[in-house]
Amino acid sequence: MQWTGLNELREKYLTFFEGKGHLRLDSFPLVPKNDPSLLLINSGMAPMKKWFLGQEEPPRHRVTTCQKCIRTPDIERVGITARHGTFFEMLGNFSFQDYFKEEAIPWAWEFLTSEDWMAIPKDRLFVSVYQEDDEAYDIWTKKVGVPESHMVRLGKEDNFWEHGSGPCGPCSEIYFDRGPEYGCGKPTCGVGCDCDRYMEIWNNVFSQFDSDGKGHYERLPRPNIDTGMGLERLACVMQGVGNLFEVDTVQSVLHHVEAISGKTYKQDEKVDISIRVITDHIRSCTFMVSDGILPSNEGRGYVLRRLLRRAARHGRMLGIQRPFLVDLVETVIQSSESAYPELREHDAYIKKVIGTEEANFARTIDAGMNILTNLIDSLEKAHQNLLSGLDAFKLNDTFGFPLDLTREIAAEQGLQVDEEGFHAEMAKQKERARAERLKKNISGWSADLFGELTAAPTVFTGYESLTEEGTVVALSDEETLTDAISTDDQAKEGVLVVLDKTPFYAEMGGQAADHGVLTGESCTLRVLDVKKTPKGYFVHTCVLESGYVRVGDVLTAQVDSEYRMAIARNHTATHLMQAALREVLGDHVHQAGSYQDAQVTHFDFTHFSAVTPEELAQVEKIVNDKIFEAMDVQVRTMPIAEAKKLGAMALFGEKYGEIVRVVDVEGWSTEFCGGTHVKNTAQIGGFKIISESSVAAGIRRIEAVTGKNLLARANGIEMTLRQTAGTLKANNVADVVARAEAVMAENKAMSRELENLKVQIASAKVQQLFDSAEEINGVKIVSAFFSGTSGDTLRGMCDAIRERAVNPVTAVLVGSADGKITMAVTVNKLAQEKGLKAGALVKELSAIAGGKGGGKPDFAMAGLKDPNKIDEALNAVGGVVAQQMA
Ligand code: ALA
Repeated sequence: MQWTGLNELREKYLTFFEGKGHLRLDSFPLVPKNDPSLLLINSGMAPMKKWFLGQEEPPRHRVTTCQKCIRTPDIERVGITARHGTFFEMLGNFSFQDYFKEEAIPWAWEFLTSEDWMAIPKDRLFVSVYQEDDEAYDIWTKKVGVPESHMVRLGKEDNFWEHGSGPCGPCSEIYFDRGPEYGCGKPTCGVGCDCDRYMEIWNNVFSQFDSDGKGHYERLPRPNIDTGMGLERLACVMQGVGNLFEVDTVQSVLHHVEAISGKTYKQDEKVDISIRVITDHIRSCTFMVSDGILPSNEGRGYVLRRLLRRAARHGRMLGIQRPFLVDLVETVIQSSESAYPELREHDAYIKKVIGTEEANFARTIDAGMNILTNLIDSLEKAHQNLLSGLDAFKLNDTFGFPLDLTREIAAEQGLQVDEEGFHAEMAKQKERARAERLKKNISGWSADLFGELTAAPTVFTGYESLTEEGTVVALSDEETLTDAISTDDQAKEGVLVVLDKTPFYAEMGGQAADHGVLTGESCTLRVLDVKKTPKGYFVHTCVLESGYVRVGDVLTAQVDSEYRMAIARNHTATHLMQAALREVLGDHVHQAGSYQDAQVTHFDFTHFSAVTPEELAQVEKIVNDKIFEAMDVQVRTMPIAEAKKLGAMALFGEKYGEIVRVVDVEGWSTEFCGGTHVKNTAQIGGFKIISESSVAAGIRRIEAVTGKNLLARANGIEMTLRQTAGTLKANNVADVVARAEAVMAENKAMSRELENLKVQIASAKVQQLFDSAEEINGVKIVSAFFSGTSGDTLRGMCDAIRERAVNPVTAVLVGSADGKITMAVTVNKLAQEKGLKAGALVKELSAIAGGKGGGKPDFAMAGLKDPNKIDEALNAVGGVVAQQMA
């Protein structure tokens, strides 16, 4: 057995199985495709379920991969022990209805024990099989020659592999004996024991069932092999180390954490936990971001956010006061880029995303901590120990405070969180989001409706032509499949038609579906929407306008060419816009989402601040220049390697086939794309950005229009302008601005005049008050309340009082306007000489009505809070004045 680096081990494994006729595939992205049962890829087989079930033809029936995986069920244990990690790589060799146990078992043994490969001493290996699997037991003992003393039979708990729904079956695991020094020493200690002595390294699943995840198993017509070996675990064995954190590639990250924090691993258990948390989490986060996942409050984005925030918090616990996670990204990339080139391809982008989230978190945690500390304080005052689910939810929803963080902090104060209540609030929020989504979906049918269909998938001919003869393969009224549908005197909505061939583009890759008509001998159908089912059927949602339609009818499918063209203009313009954005803003701009219909295009992209009006103008100009240059748009299919050489832009985390479709605008914009486009940019006619906004942290959205929509918009704006000119009585459109300015100025003058009048009326009232005012020690005292009177007016009244008075006077006026209550106090010179100060008076008097304020000796103001105490405050004036004068 010889020390071997992790990257070399990966290579050896894949080479070994290539030698056994396997096709080596790159790791699939971490984001599952068309598998709603799974948030993140968590095993080598997960992205290949369709090949196991025979639903899709694999590129070869023997495949080998090293798959990046993330598992997060025990996220809170990661770091506490050295056993757990969220990120790992799984080596696998797979048979899709090809070889079975007879080959898989000896090959596993050969790889592990042969002198040419791992050369692990045979006596250090132990094997478990499913208790009823005599066949596997015999292959191990008779064919491979493993002694019975190294074999165990275990029950379903241990040796039947399944993960949610999908392919599963009995399995056989291979264990490495690390020696008695790792053991618990109990007489019962053996394979399957909880202690660290026997480490499972490889799992061979004889996958022969399809599970629905609810206890029902369907036998597959032909069985498969699904194996999984933890690459880091194999590395532990080959490098003679105790756990994943001591494996070479992981160590390089761990050492970097030590260097940044100035702490040394293995000196203090608390410090070790934080170092492990950061080391593991930054690996997961780097890989997740490289596959296009962005931090968010939902789904996999939430997993990413939790991991990043947990790591950042542990950084603080190590005493690191600056953003540091972003520095670790480079080390992760360096240690893994040989097998995952996407890391280097997106390095600047990954650093930007992680750096931005880290910086945002610093702000969020402070705001959230304040709120949480207040909540905890008031709970303690009330002698309660349960933080409500709603509070935990609000912290999460408003401040992005993950539940586990709230729980950790609450626990430090001996408090608990009502997690049931929290999840109930989350469920309510999800339900609200679901209802929103349903509202947007124009037709409510489910793809299962066509699940039983055995016909060949629909052939799409719409790249070349807009007309096609197609035969009806299936019909439905959105509830069940049926053989025929007819109108009952009036048009019938919600008729679903599947054709064997169609020129209609189905909604895909952000491009909306075509509209058009289907006509047959006995019917006319208007197509409103087209969707493609997972099995490849194009389902046309139609209105049956007249007659009847039957399965087997031949229909002429005619796409509405004007509608298609309007979509194509928007789509090609979106490609130009992406290229222009990269020119203006930088290479970190990547598509994060996009949508084009016949009206508008939305393009979502990664960028970390608002795009300025100047930048938008630049982008708009570049796109329009490209339109006026009348550039050719070429669509070509080619091998993926060639497309990459051309520098074609691909979507993050998207796995493309061997042959890809590339849309190329004279080499200026080159993108992988399945959509429909104009032939020359001149056909776009013109391009106008209509809005720029934020859709999520780090993602901006630009909305734009092209072609006829641009004209319609310009016409609409002109119409509005003409109407405005009419209303403003401007002579013509060009005068609108001058007229608007004049009207605004008139308005302002009138407001000022109005304000003056109000003051005059008020001072007339003041005069009345003056005449009947009481007098204390020779000072006249005016006090009154005026509703509908603002602070400004009160100030004017106070000025008037001081001007008018020839004797010592003080006035305390309270006014209310627009929900605000103001107190104004004035003291003229003569009264000041008697020891009165406006500032001191307002302070004491406003306090009576819950207010605060102050000012100078001659004038002072305060805002009042309690409207019920206004009278009390005014009644107190005489007393307070007398007292302050004394
Ligand atoms: N799919 C099997 C596992 O994940 C090999 O263990």
